[in-house]
Amino acid sequence: MIDIERFLEVERKRINLALGQYFPPDAPPAVSAAMRYSLEAGGKRLRPILTLAAAKTLGSEDDADLEVACALEFIHTYSLIHDDLPAMDDSNLRRGIPSCHRVYGDAMAILAGDALLTLAFETVAGYGSREGYERKAVRIAAELSAAAGAAGMIGGQALDLDAEGRDISLSEIDRISALKTGALLRAAAACGGIAAGATEQQLKALRAYGSNIGKAFQVVDDLLDYESTTEELGKPAGADQVRFKATYPAFFGPEGTKKRAESFYNEALSALNELDCPAGLLKGLAKKIIDRKK
Ligand code: IPE
Ligand code: IPE
Ligand code: MG
Ligand code: MG
Ligand code: MG
Repeated sequence: MIDIERFLEVERKRINLALGQYFPPDAPPAVSAAMRYSLEAGGKRLRPILTLAAAKTLGSEDDADLEVACALEFIHTYSLIHDDLPAMDDSNLRRGIPSCHRVYGDAMAILAGDALLTLAFETVAGYGSREGYERKAVRIAAELSAAAGAAGMIGGQALDLDAEGRDISLSEIDRISALKTGALLRAAAACGGIAAGATEQQLKALRAYGSNIGKAFQVVDDLLDYESTTEELGKPAGADQVRFKATYPAFFGPEGTKKRAESFYNEALSALNELDCPAGLLKGLAKKIIDRKK
């Protein structure tokens, strides 16, 4: 039996210790301070944990996996910094402290986000500089860029903004959450798989699993915005209603929203059947995602 709580605690610590090590030492403090501010504010570290969990599930015990995991967190933290900007969700609080732009100004927050995105690929290049890792690094870069770019997270963010204040269909809401959140979780799982030498069938399973827990994650994010408190979340509760966002609770109400999260969760679990190896860790993580309170 895998102890999920222990896994989360140990891996979160390793990730937190590693994140700062990839910073370019000669970066001007004006921008590196803003990058560190948002990274070190914490966060659940779900995406890098997912990368490590996928790799471990396929039997990898390679310390270099941690580098790939950190790349995922750099992209995620950049996306949060930009998501909070006045031109996007205009949010003042993130990870329990004032948003990056509230402390460093809009321009520096844009640059800190840009630099974190770039740092992600610099970190993947560093991973691939080891002998025998070159091909894996290229595949990881392809997976990550597809997930983070215009056909993935950025596309989802664009659709999310475009949907503000409009009545939209369920299939449009599903598409927004699949892209803005599902794509990066898909890549998190797949990149762990690539690092561990997954077969094509296993990669396909990890992508389907990651994408579905990503969608479930966004459904729960919408529900928590609707039901929870600012203190608990560390970001402003109720913000989606203020901005007339297209969300699951606005479409379904809270009960229907919970059912939607469960249906994505069930799809994620059935994808794991194709992995052909014990997947208790990934199952446990999926359960934590739908039961989470923050
Ligand atoms: C928030 O992500 C943004 C969404 C995709 C919903 P998280 O809830 O994982 O944020 P942190 O990393 O824990 O702060
Ligand atoms: C953001 O979705 C998804 C990202 C790609 C950052 P939200 O706008 O719902 O995330 P929160 O609620 O601000 O964390
Ligand atoms: Mg947003
Ligand atoms: Mg937001
Ligand atoms: Mg939200």
